[in-house]
Amino acid sequence: MRTATVLFSLVLVAFAYTKGEELKLAEPCDTEACKLPSCRCSSSAIPGDLEPRDTPQFVVLTFDDGVNVNNIPLYRNLLYNRVNKNRCNVGVTFFVNHEYTDYSLVNELYNRGFEIGLHSITHKTDTQYWREASYETMMREFGDQKTQMAHFANIPISAIHGLRSPFLQMSGNSTYQMMNSAGLRYDLSWPTIRFTDPGLWPYTLHYESTQDCIIPPCPTASIPGPWILPMVAWTDMQGFPCSMVDSCYYNPGSDNEEGWFKFILENFERHYLNNRAPFGFYIHEWYIRVNPGLQRAFTRFLDMINNLNDVFMVNGNDVIDWVQNPIPVDEYVKKDCQRLTPAACRPTSCGPLQSDHNPTPYYMTICNRCPRRYPWLNNPLGE
Ligand SMILES: *[C@@H]1O[C@H](CO)[C@@H](O)[C@H](O)[C@H]1NC(C)=O
Ligand SMILES: [Zn+2]
Repeated sequence: MRTATVLFSLVLVAFAYTKGEELKLAEPCDTEACKLPSCRCSSSAIPGDLEPRDTPQFVVLTFDDGVNVNNIPLYRNLLYNRVNKNRCNVGVTFFVNHEYTDYSLVNELYNRGFEIGLHSITHKTDTQYWREASYETMMREFGDQKTQMAHFANIPISAIHGLRSPFLQMSGNSTYQMMNSAGLRYDLSWPTIRFTDPGLWPYTLHYESTQDCIIPPCPTASIPGPWILPMVAWTDMQGFPCSMVDSCYYNPGSDNEEGWFKFILENFERHYLNNRAPFGFYIHEWYIRVNPGLQRAFTRFLDMINNLNDVFMVNGNDVIDWVQNPIPVDEYVKKDCQRLTPAACRPTSCGPLQSDHNPTPYYMTICNRCPRRYPWLNNPLGE
């Protein structure tokens, strides 16, 4: 009996260990106990109790999905050599999924100072898969993708911090348990339509989140560690919320540059003229390519904000840095720009490569030696 109990507890311990940690239901946030730099209650309060006018307005531009020869021209045109008013290069975050990604181009983006985030290995279109994804599935999709990305793009694994779930489909607690095990710092997948005016600032999951749950299941356990960078929704031209710019249903229309410019500005000002919660511009490259009015308006908007003294286009990870250590804008502009150690790449084309999930062979360009098989779930390096 004794032995059986001991054995049983050992099994339980081992089980809890593979899950990362035991989960307790999160309790209402205790503002006395939850303090920066490592803990923050979900709230629209400006970190460090700064006044809005002393708060840098961060603009977080993100692009999702594979990086390849189809979309790199627009990235090069629109983003390269763009600088903020403090003379530091702008930041942009790319949430990259594995399939049809040219890793030599990921390496190029990294070397421009942009942030490379994770968007899963498979990007399965079945949202039920993500809704029900266990900790183990999330580890294979994102934990393994971190290793895969660093390997094929030859970038430091320590430079990978963020993730976005495909279709913004949350997986409850498992995403955040996975983040702790995989050493990921922040999630940029959780929309809010309630906390837009004033907007919700980033926070942690030590305590219960007050954020509205738009695409359940949302985490309800206490999971100290990861940060949430909330996706504060835009408001479309009929007043409906949209989390990604390309999902705003009532928009100005493909060729309407003036309309798009006004539309972007209205959404920006909801942040800039209020509590300056980070302004998200979340979009897919193809949408800009097929809407020339938007492309021109977007370029004008970026040129405009790059000339404002208190607005900064930065990587998502830089926002979390600032939130952990909030300093007024006059101090922020005096900081040195980030220096980056170049990551080498001698592009190598590989293929045809076979896989189990697709009869058509794959080709891929990487900064490394060619894998034996097409890398995929359970075999992220294609060994
Ligand atoms: C998350 O963990 C809490 C606490 O253990 C639990 O009550 C809740 O059902 C979990 N949520 C999901 C979606 O697994
Ligand atoms: Zn996607």
